[in-house]
Amino acid sequence: MFRTHNCGELRLTDAGKPVTLSGWVQTSRDFGNLTFIDLRDRYGITQLVIDAEDSSELKTTAGKLGREWVIMAEGKVRERTNKNPNRPTGDVEIDVKNLTVLNASEVPPFTIEDDSDGGDDLRMKYRFLDLRRGPLQQNIIFRSQLALAVRAYLGGQDFVEVETPFLIKSTPEGARDFVVPSRLNEGQFYALPQSPQTFKQLLMVAGYDRYFQIVKCFRDEDLRADRQPEFTQIDCEMAFVTQEEILNTFEGLTRHVFQQLKGIELPEFPRMQYDDAIRLYGSDKPDLRFGMELVELNDVAQNKGFKVFDSAELVVGICVPGQASATRKQLDGLTNWVKRPQIGAKGLVYVKCNEDGSYKSSVDKFFDQEALAAWAEKCGAKPGDLLLVISGEDEKSRTQMGNLRLHVAESHDMIPEGSFKPLWVVDFPLLEWDEDSERFHAMHHPFTSPKREEVDRMLNGDHETMKSLKADAYDLVINGAEIGGGSIRIYDRELQEKNFQLLGFTKEEAEEQFGFLMGAFEYGAPPHGGIAFGFDRLCAVMNGQSSIRDFIAFPKNNQGRDVMIDAPARIDEAQCNELNLKVTVEPGN
Ligand code: AMO
Repeated sequence: MFRTHNCGELRLTDAGKPVTLSGWVQTSRDFGNLTFIDLRDRYGITQLVIDAEDSSELKTTAGKLGREWVIMAEGKVRERTNKNPNRPTGDVEIDVKNLTVLNASEVPPFTIEDDSDGGDDLRMKYRFLDLRRGPLQQNIIFRSQLALAVRAYLGGQDFVEVETPFLIKSTPEGARDFVVPSRLNEGQFYALPQSPQTFKQLLMVAGYDRYFQIVKCFRDEDLRADRQPEFTQIDCEMAFVTQEEILNTFEGLTRHVFQQLKGIELPEFPRMQYDDAIRLYGSDKPDLRFGMELVELNDVAQNKGFKVFDSAELVVGICVPGQASATRKQLDGLTNWVKRPQIGAKGLVYVKCNEDGSYKSSVDKFFDQEALAAWAEKCGAKPGDLLLVISGEDEKSRTQMGNLRLHVAESHDMIPEGSFKPLWVVDFPLLEWDEDSERFHAMHHPFTSPKREEVDRMLNGDHETMKSLKADAYDLVINGAEIGGGSIRIYDRELQEKNFQLLGFTKEEAEEQFGFLMGAFEYGAPPHGGIAFGFDRLCAVMNGQSSIRDFIAFPKNNQGRDVMIDAPARIDEAQCNELNLKVTVEPGN
């Protein structure tokens, strides 16, 4: 037997018990006759003591040990004279009588401690060692517990977990597909699913009523902290439901897992129209943990002789509380920040609302005290506050201001730690006009239904009408992160055909790609709708983190590489030939 107990469970009440522990050597300290070893496993750390006077063999074995060696120790639990209150096992130690080396270890390339000395790349290369560290283990275990809680909750609500295939045909969800060549079908490719969207709809046609799956999805898109090329969704679909019932069901799931895993009772989730989210926060995923809503200043800031504002579609401001004392350098810093290409603003105007009731702005030449007082009043500014103002095209300026709002909140520590602000954003537009390609894109995906009262306008309206159609589509946002998204679906062929036509598909293309779905709609498709949660994002947000990488056991780096197994990699010529692939390799590569 390798162990009678794990390294996290022994307490003072166990004193006197003979025990066997196995684990990894965290540290070994030699004090002549006495050697102290911190033995670690997933459950904790227990101190071992080896007394050289007991046996010389014991002393020799203890002397050989290095960090991360795997050992088994037999001995008796005893009370520690020098207790460690920071450790649950800190009242006891093991007086070791037998020590067995189960496996030696190379010196690890970085320290396996909560704060490691290893850089990102090194830790990714040795991910199996990084995963030994406490914080990562806690994340991965949290993820497992979350999956179990989700399964139990949805199972308890009659949801059926169904697996759908990974080798499929492309489903357009807005990203590029990863493709897999087919050996048996020369020149043809499978696509890995960007989501199980069409399959879950077919399961509704098949009468399964309530489906869920915790499932891998694959999207070949540019990577960021909250995006991985393969990620996991809690994917769900329900038949005979309204949007309201879907929102309530998944608000219930979200509240349940917060309660179970974090002990947090979330309040009822507010609902916000997409248009209001853009108007007030310049974002379809507003972070409601702090205020600083966007305020439109056109009526008080235009026609006062300042050309930049006069020629703008929108003049929009935020009021930063208590920041009137910002220095020239700080204000220049903010101006440069909004002028970066990623944000793209032309400039930034500021107004300091001084404590004495006067105003000092970067546009004093054009605006007198009275005019600036009108801005301040509109923004609800008090003495001591700072107004920041951007102007330009409506949509662009709002997005720029939305970004600045987040930046200012982060840099001024305005985001309360440990708070959770969930929110449903509803009534998304059905279609989005893309100026560059001069075509419509589906704002959510092509299977999303317009609101019922919009169907007539969709079937009969002109081009401009299409831009204003609203969909039964919704997102779950928590702390400014898009945690989930879904919609009520189209379930009739005519409307689905019309949607494909608006999205620029010819009748033949739509039939070739989605004939199976539209065909299924002709065999008794029930009204249905659903949602998918980003599971990795939910894990991160529940733990107050923004990067999903640390909640995925084996993630990819920002270039989409797994540096541990060194993938992607070339395949050999024989394999290429078998797959009928011609791969041209430049000399020297
Ligand atoms: P959507 O595309 O909005 O909807 O995806 C649902 C949720 O998945 C998460 N997500 C990601 N997480 C990590 N890395 C990525 N690359 C990534 N892409 C998306 C987000 C997002 O909210 N089939 C529809 C759902 C439906 O209509 O039911 C879909 O996939 O948290």
